[in-house]
Amino acid sequence: MASKAPIGVFDSGVGGLTVVKEIMNQIPGETIIYFGDTARLPYGSKSQETILTYTRQIVRFLKGKGVKVIVVACNTASAMALETVKAEVDIPMLGVVKPGAKVAADTTKNGRIGIIATEGTIRSGIYNNYINDINPQVQVYGKPCPLLVPLVEEGLLEDPVTTEMVRRYTKDLLEIDIDTLVLGCTHYPLLRKTIRGVVGDGIKLVNPAYETARSLKEVLVGNHLENDSAVKSNHRFYVSDGADKFKKFAKTILPCEVIETKDVNIENY
Ligand code: DGL
Repeated sequence: MASKAPIGVFDSGVGGLTVVKEIMNQIPGETIIYFGDTARLPYGSKSQETILTYTRQIVRFLKGKGVKVIVVACNTASAMALETVKAEVDIPMLGVVKPGAKVAADTTKNGRIGIIATEGTIRSGIYNNYINDINPQVQVYGKPCPLLVPLVEEGLLEDPVTTEMVRRYTKDLLEIDIDTLVLGCTHYPLLRKTIRGVVGDGIKLVNPAYETARSLKEVLVGNHLENDSAVKSNHRFYVSDGADKFKKFAKTILPCEVIETKDVNIENY
């Protein structure tokens, strides 16, 4: 039965776990199959062609595991590959950018929104487009933060080096009086405390993960795909490199046991 099938979620690394956490909180009856492309991270500095190739391989891998829907828990892949790949598959796919843009547009009071994200996401202009589709009056300022993903992957969530980088990356945005800051990379909610410490309490931080989990719920309901089975299977985690390191990290983030974590040669898909 399709409704008992798992949900596929992927990112370049551990960042997508911030979305998994929200899905587990909001839709606890679902089983997740996660893929983190740790061997090929970061995605943020790569070309659209490369991200499309990676996304297609991961989608083939997840479809092979029998998933009923795929969540692209990566802003970069959502920006560069989602629309194209979505049209090629026969199951629903959703990303994190559209839900994040909606919250940001609903949150701002002074009409000035900052986006911190990877180079690829900022270059795509996708947040500006979605936000201005909702409200053309809003000013959107993007800032690429290429060093934050490696710092998160190294576990330096609260470290003077990370604080200094956040300070440098957000300086210009703070000078132009934004009232809302979108954490436009799924790795960044893991830096929430550090980012809050730098930008202060006056700025609303938007984490698209919450709204993404809500959108996923709508997709499941709309397609009659909710898992109403009382028997639950274990979530499964796959990475393209470093399964043990990933497992240790995942255990610190997720509200569940991380039992099965395996390495996969994703180039074979
Ligand atoms: N976590 C991803 C994102 O949301 C990708 C980060 C990267 O690999 O550069 O954009």
